[in-house]
Amino acid sequence: MKYKACLFDLDGVLVDTAIYHFKAWRQLGLNFGYQLTEEQNEQLKGVSRVESLDRILAWAGVHASEEDKSKWLTEKNDHYLDLISSMNPNEILPGVSEFLDQLKQQGYLIALGSASKNAQIILEKTGLIKWFDAIIDGNHVSKSKPDPEVFLKGAQALGVAPEECIVFEDAQAGVEAAKKGGMKAIGIGEASVLFEADKVISTFINVKPDSLLTF
Ligand code: G6P
Ligand code: MG
Repeated sequence: MKYKACLFDLDGVLVDTAIYHFKAWRQLGLNFGYQLTEEQNEQLKGVSRVESLDRILAWAGVHASEEDKSKWLTEKNDHYLDLISSMNPNEILPGVSEFLDQLKQQGYLIALGSASKNAQIILEKTGLIKWFDAIIDGNHVSKSKPDPEVFLKGAQALGVAPEECIVFEDAQAGVEAAKKGGMKAIGIGEASVLFEADKVISTFINVKPDSLLTF
């Protein structure tokens, strides 16, 4: 087998928490009279919490004190934690469980490569955790995607080379991170947005590893 491992982003790939992040950031923006758009939110996918706030403040033209920033980061995360508190296995995106089952049966190693510091709790609440051999999240990295650190650490944790890894990503920054890390990237979403990916699928429904993982 040419490829040994599949590395998954979490938000927007395995579960639809991207919508919860959007809700929480949009609500937060109202503190300084700013209405975040969906197009802007697209650019926040895969970007760490701290950097996301910095970008929103820049778009809004707001110069905030460190104290305000820290208060807003807590406020956003508290709201987000509230939104995800009732997550359950029903929120695993369609086709994902079947796809992960097939990967396991075929001997692929599976790791998480997410910028989120809340990844563990989401994996537990949804039951996704049972498929993962390694979890690298926002608590383990110092550089945000598009830096490849999160995926390189994932490969390292699994004991495989970057060239043996395939990354699944819904974010432009994540696809870029995978490519910079020397890995194949499969985009989940629209080809017009994820044009740097080696392949793009819109959903995992009826997707078979045999036919997808051929490059
Ligand atoms: C993911 C999401 C981003 C989010 C980041 C940090 O990469 O795509 O939108 O900002 O994780 O998430 P956290 O749960 O740590 O705030
Ligand atoms: Mg994502």
